[in-house]
Amino acid sequence: MRVFITRELPEIAFELLEKHKISYDYYKKDQPIPRKLLLQKVKNCEALISLQTKKIDNEIIDQMTTWRIITNYAVGYNNIDINYAKKKKIIVTNTPDVLTESTADLTMTLALCCARRILEGEKLLRSGNYKGWKPKLLLGIELKNKIVGVIGAGRIGTAVAIRAKSFGTNIIYFDSKRNIALEKATNAKKVSLKNLLMNSDIVSVHLPLNEKTFHYLNWERFKLMKINSILINTSRGEIIHETDLIRILRNKKSLTVGLDVFESEPNINPELLKYPNVLVLPHLGSATREARDGMAELAAKNVINVLFGKPPLSPVF
Ligand code: DGY
Repeated sequence: MRVFITRELPEIAFELLEKHKISYDYYKKDQPIPRKLLLQKVKNCEALISLQTKKIDNEIIDQMTTWRIITNYAVGYNNIDINYAKKKKIIVTNTPDVLTESTADLTMTLALCCARRILEGEKLLRSGNYKGWKPKLLLGIELKNKIVGVIGAGRIGTAVAIRAKSFGTNIIYFDSKRNIALEKATNAKKVSLKNLLMNSDIVSVHLPLNEKTFHYLNWERFKLMKINSILINTSRGEIIHETDLIRILRNKKSLTVGLDVFESEPNINPELLKYPNVLVLPHLGSATREARDGMAELAAKNVINVLFGKPPLSPVF
């Protein structure tokens, strides 16, 4: 076995490996592989295809004597000890681009659901308490002329801004670098984080998770947010200080939140679930057939390239 895969992937990954006569094995149960078993399985294989839910740390990396590549079946790779992999001269790849549109679609879904109080409406109807149309029943906001603030203007942030623009919004963004393509496509303006938080009607977070972005949005920053604004996070849960978010929700009832990711995923802080103005999803950003097939294909192609001595398609460093 040359490749180990921590969980079953869309068929295309297996087909490609077979086509190239590369032997592989994968964890067949529909649950995360136990660490002990993973430590055994990775011994002597050359490539590992891992998921963002599985921590790949130095102990796991050390098990493999013939490692050449770790390919993450995700665009985010905060689950992998990149510095250690680099030190060991192991290539690390991720799956960018192929999930951009799906994640941007989901971000807009959350934004629209928050803006139009979709979850509350659904619940009202199912509860049997809907007594008919009323002039002031579950009033939300229109997107037209609202300000959308994108934190992190990479691929997904840009795709979200383009979608939001088509709803007639004005885009501002915060990033360490200027994104000229985004500015051209949406007339977006680069602003400071403070300015973005103070002025956006919808704040959408699209940052990678690392030491700098851990708990990036905290009490002080939440306090800056505009009254009646909406906060969406489809990136990584740890970017938001969840305890601070709960504290702000208790104090500032005017904030609506759409979350696809959580600090202790898959565990959700039960307090978050108490608020009707918090919409939660089980990490569905890339959950479309197109994105997941694209991710599987890119992950397999990265492995194939490296095992055949070619450069990887999407290295992270
Ligand atoms: C990613 O690719 O990083 C996503 O979180 C998986 O959906």
